Amino acid sequence: MSERPAETSPGPRHIGIIMDGNGRWARRLGLPRSAGHRAGARTVRRITEHAARLGLRQLTLYAFSSENWSRPEGEVRLLMRLFARYLRSERERLLRNGIRLRVIGRLDALPALVLDELAASMEATRHGARMTLCLAINYGGRNEIVDACRALAARAVAGKLDPDAIEAEDLAACLYQPDMPPLDLIIRTAGEMRLSNFLLWQAAYAELWVTEVPWPEFDADCLDRAIADFRRRERRFGGLPADAPDLRPSPTALRG
Ligand code: IPE
Ligand code: IPE
Ligand code: MG
Repeated sequence: MSERPAETSPGPRHIGIIMDGNGRWARRLGLPRSAGHRAGARTVRRITEHAARLGLRQLTLYAFSSENWSRPEGEVRLLMRLFARYLRSERERLLRNGIRLRVIGRLDALPALVLDELAASMEATRHGARMTLCLAINYGGRNEIVDACRALAARAVAGKLDPDAIEAEDLAACLYQPDMPPLDLIIRTAGEMRLSNFLLWQAAYAELWVTEVPWPEFDADCLDRAIADFRRRERRFGGLPADAPDLRPSPTALRG
């Protein structure tokens, strides 16, 4: 990681957050894991509104991974109920704040109560132009790439696509949200240094920022700190730093 002393880059336009640590936060307070998930839902509201105030184009929140089905049935059921309740209770507020709700993931496996609320929120907020809030639910980065490959393979089999002509942009066009703005920054709360299958394709050149703060305690100041750190990073995308010495041989060296 290369850091510059002053904030030199523009702020991120698209931030993805791995909202982790609900269970550990609750355990530390002697509460059941369910209390951690409820507190986490309140953080979602706070951070979404702050992100919109900051002028982000998109905030993508990792709410439920394709691997989270392996948790006890009771916890999965509680999470699904919380998603439905969050979607219902926040609909008006999202609408008022000009926030468009979108979703990525394998939706067909979700219970009807979540699907119905999702459909209603996406429909109600579809003209929201201030910011997009994208929820990753039953989302897995590998599944997303597999699903895109299936779509490309189907077109190739139908004779509509030459396999040798497939480029990265063709695959990107088959991802769950093809018009997703480039992912600038991934924040992970609660300290783990891993992606846990979040936005694998999109993470290629995203900056990473990990905090020990568990999701229920993550607040506007934490988000501001992550963004300030981001602005001190130098993103090179494989190129050279702006102030790198010019390593091209000089014309005299070539002659000599
Ligand atoms: C994140 O918190 C919420 C989800 C993954 C749904 P966790 O439930 O993973 O909390 P920890 O990691 O056990 O503390
Ligand atoms: C990542 O958290 C998934 C979400 C935040 C939805 P996990 O708690 O599932 O990740 P691992 O198991 O620690 O990698
Ligand atoms: Mg966790």
